[in-house]
Amino acid sequence: MELKLAVLAVATLCLALPPPRAALSQGAPPLVETPAPAPAPAPHHVDLADLLSLAGPYGTFRGYLTRTDVLRTFQGRANATDQQQGVTVFAPEDSAFAAVDAAALSNLTADQLRTLMLCHAAPRYLPLSSFAALAASGPVHTFAECALDVTDAAGRIRVASGWTRAARLVSSVYSTPPVAVYALDRVLLPRQVFPTEPTVAPVPAPSPAPAARGADATDAAPAATERGANKSLSCGVSAGHVLVGCLVATVFAFLMM
Ligand SMILES: *[C@@H]1O[C@H](CO)[C@@H](O)[C@H](O)[C@H]1NC(C)=O
Ligand SMILES: *[C@@H]1O[C@H](CO)[C@@H](O)[C@H](O)[C@H]1NC(C)=O
Repeated sequence: MELKLAVLAVATLCLALPPPRAALSQGAPPLVETPAPAPAPAPHHVDLADLLSLAGPYGTFRGYLTRTDVLRTFQGRANATDQQQGVTVFAPEDSAFAAVDAAALSNLTADQLRTLMLCHAAPRYLPLSSFAALAASGPVHTFAECALDVTDAAGRIRVASGWTRAARLVSSVYSTPPVAVYALDRVLLPRQVFPTEPTVAPVPAPSPAPAARGADATDAAPAATERGANKSLSCGVSAGHVLVGCLVATVFAFLMM
């Protein structure tokens, strides 16, 4: 009799569990009375140097940003609390810098190097979803005179400046207002900095694939995805685990009868 009650209790508990989605909803009423509606949460402070160190192969880019002090210019915009401000950084991967003729970079004066770095960011937050419109609306203005031409071929976003034919936006490293950081497979080479075209080695294939030709066509699906997706997936999974655990407990209790 007691066991039956136990089974009933466990089963009831299972049914009483909110569905995974509901558990995540943000609109849940506060359990305790709040004195006043909370102000909009302050944007999470993003340290660009830390982000570039932790997020992946951007050490070369980070090194140049630090050397030229352009990092401070970008960080100032990243610190802005005003949503009109913000910053979008186009971070070439280390392999992109390795592909540029070393002499072309080492020949640059301090001022030229600084301009080159300033060409790798726009002084406003640009979400991934805005790039299709940017491709149609004209160039994106950077911190320097160089402007970036954006193209969007079925979600495959490319940016170009001067000698750069097509730097592919390979991933979204970070994107939460007021800061966006996107990875590029090429360095942007503005004509303002390079009077002649620098030698650039072919960009290595993004990923080893069985058929080289096919790879180019099949990875047309944007590799760049906003970060949220993974997060909500893991929330759903853990809520699923609770339900499964509950079911197992019920069956186990039933067997014990
Ligand atoms: C950005 O904010 C951080 C933390 O508040 C501060 O330490 C840093 O000096 C600020 N940087 C700039 C360039 O405003
Ligand atoms: C670098 O500078 C040297 C000397 O000024 C010049 O001969 C050489 O062509 C330059 N190299 C590049 C890649 O611009």
